[in-house]
Amino acid sequence: MTNPTTLTMIRPDDWHLHLRDGEGLKAVVKDTARQFSRAIVMPNLAQPVTTVSMALAYRDRILQALQMDGKSVVEFTPLMTLYLTDNTTAQDVRDAVNCEHVYAFKLYPAGATTNSDSGVTDLFGRCAPALEAMEKLGMPLLVHGEVTDPDVDVFDREAVFIDRVMLKLRQQFPELKVVFEHLTTKNGVDYVREAPGPIAGTLTPQHLLYNRNAIFQGGLQPHWFCLPVLKREVHRQALLDAATSDSPRFFLGTDSAPHAQHLKEASCGCAGCYSALHALELYATAFEQAGRLDRLEAFASLRGPAFYGLPVNTTKVTLTRSSYTVPQTVPFGDDSLIPLAAGTTLNWTFSEG
Ligand code: DOR
Ligand code: ZN
Repeated sequence: MTNPTTLTMIRPDDWHLHLRDGEGLKAVVKDTARQFSRAIVMPNLAQPVTTVSMALAYRDRILQALQMDGKSVVEFTPLMTLYLTDNTTAQDVRDAVNCEHVYAFKLYPAGATTNSDSGVTDLFGRCAPALEAMEKLGMPLLVHGEVTDPDVDVFDREAVFIDRVMLKLRQQFPELKVVFEHLTTKNGVDYVREAPGPIAGTLTPQHLLYNRNAIFQGGLQPHWFCLPVLKREVHRQALLDAATSDSPRFFLGTDSAPHAQHLKEASCGCAGCYSALHALELYATAFEQAGRLDRLEAFASLRGPAFYGLPVNTTKVTLTRSSYTVPQTVPFGDDSLIPLAAGTTLNWTFSEG
């Protein structure tokens, strides 16, 4: 596959997505539905989605927001997740398993990121019965893999998480299906590649395309700030190697996380990059850089369904080699959003079928 001018592939899924709620949800959900067939929807709303009934109500709002956009609801399937807390019980896990629309629990260590105040403080104590039930019933645990200890350097939080939490988690619950979300380090991909048992990792476009210099290029660049934060070039290279390898354990998860422009361009700016608008163009750019466009379909459309035990999509999408300039800004309710890499020109343009 040297220099193809078009790339037709099975329609992809996004295995890690933030859709928000209310007017924000209405503004962004159509972008994901344009490129992806399904998405694993993160539960970190202002009021976290902790129960099946909350997840079902949120799912209805997502489908409603799409209908209002004139798009048929059957074309996009939100795969709901529940927010793990210290109060999650084994019964909560059984309820989730019995609900056809809930696909996973999400672990946010308390204080790790946006809306994580209700996150877990006692994983191996209070959460143990829930984890045991997940392991037994095959319910995946999606992990924000960063320690929150203020003494740990922000760039080391993922690596330290492996040593302090992930190893113990997987030793105590060896059959628990784990997704190590938004991997950002060589330590992370090395761990996921080699670890025994059912484990996979998602990779975002920003971590495949940029290193931490992007945050400081010519001044402080809030639109390149996300958590886990971008890392050194050696880590970016390791992530790109993993994404474009033939390991079935690495697949697409944009972590597209919209925040209004004024909340990012602020004295204490929010973490998150908006990539739902142009996710596939961004991933294609990264894969082409690695000379591995031939692996994009496996990464975007095959390995995720295999891990989650879901069918592969039956429709196709096309990427065409033609210039696409990322808009400077897109509407977000009464506010605006600055997409990742706003104003830059990419070599690929997405189209249906
Ligand atoms: O940058 C991030 N933004 N990382 C997360 O883990 C959460 C997300 C958000 O919800 O804004
Ligand atoms: Zn996320």
